[in-house]
Amino acid sequence: MTAIRSVVLGCGSYLPERVLTNAELAARIDTSDDWIVQRTGIRERHIAADDEFTSHLAIKAAQAALADAGIDAQSIDLIVLATSTPDNTFPATAVAVQHALGINHGVAFDLQAVCSGFVFALTTADNFLRAGTHKRALVIGAETFSRILDWNDRGTCVLFGDGAGAVVLEAQPHAGTTADRGVLTTHLRSDGRHKAKLFVDGGPGSTKTVGHLRMEGREVFKHAVGMITDVIVDAFNATGFTAEDITWFIPHQANKRIIDASAHKLHIAPQKVVLTVDKHGNTSAASIPLALAVAVKDGRVKKGDLVLFEAMGGGFTWGSALVRW
Ligand code: ACO
Repeated sequence: MTAIRSVVLGCGSYLPERVLTNAELAARIDTSDDWIVQRTGIRERHIAADDEFTSHLAIKAAQAALADAGIDAQSIDLIVLATSTPDNTFPATAVAVQHALGINHGVAFDLQAVCSGFVFALTTADNFLRAGTHKRALVIGAETFSRILDWNDRGTCVLFGDGAGAVVLEAQPHAGTTADRGVLTTHLRSDGRHKAKLFVDGGPGSTKTVGHLRMEGREVFKHAVGMITDVIVDAFNATGFTAEDITWFIPHQANKRIIDASAHKLHIAPQKVVLTVDKHGNTSAASIPLALAVAVKDGRVKKGDLVLFEAMGGGFTWGSALVRW
């Protein structure tokens, strides 16, 4: 049996220059470095400059991924950009990225699944490539959450930051076994019963405003670990792999406590967990490729490694992807 696999050719990321520390936040609102670190593991986050939009972060991450892959932008025929903070209501931020990269063939579109955006975008691109309609894809997660935060709400504003990450995928023929390189299995879920637990209180079709992020933090926390572990068990069941087989666990970087609890429940050893939330906070759809780029650059993730991604976010949405590097 042969199969088309979406193989990762390269990855890249970008964080805005401005770093906002917990101490700076504590000088503005009633919080402390201790509280934030203990509850979330976050120490600092990056904030986009006023004239720096989501597309600008996405372009820089995409350029870094293309350079890492060593390929020309012209060979890209699919761009899937996950964001909840697009430059404009429309057109898609993906077309701004496409234009900036000098690409005017193929297709580029945005996808919105909040913090699960990268896993949803990876799954979507993988399905396009495996269907045989497209050959090389850029999958991007890019966010400027600083623009939708209520900076007076200490329950949310300390948690999020801005950033972008990207991977280049290529359709390649493989044997069709779990020894193949590339995306081996993906599992996505959503359940709108939870939509009021994490949402933005504005939008073009309702308030005609952008709105601010609102969250019942405890409720999100309560559901997160169970949902995350469910879709990872789905990935194990689909492939026959177990926690022991995983080389690297690269979860959505929302909260160290959620990550630790998920890894513990799944029996994934702590040394296999890639953790970057301390450096950039929750960057929503950008957080997985940001963490991935760090672990690839520092030499942890190597060819042949089994890499497990997971995310959970507003909606609720959640999902997992298992990739052989
Ligand atoms: N600094 C100091 N005190 C604070 C802060 C703050 N920044 N924020 C809230 N508090 C206070 C509350 O007002 C409350 O005070 P009270 O007891 O006097 O009323 C107290 O801390 C406890 O508040 P809780 O909200 O119950 O605190 P909790 O222990 O649940 O921690 C947190 C809050 C960190 C938001 C936690 O619920 C959490 O991590 N939830 C998951 C949220 C998340 O990660 N969302 C990301 C999107 S979804 C995803 O990506 C998975």
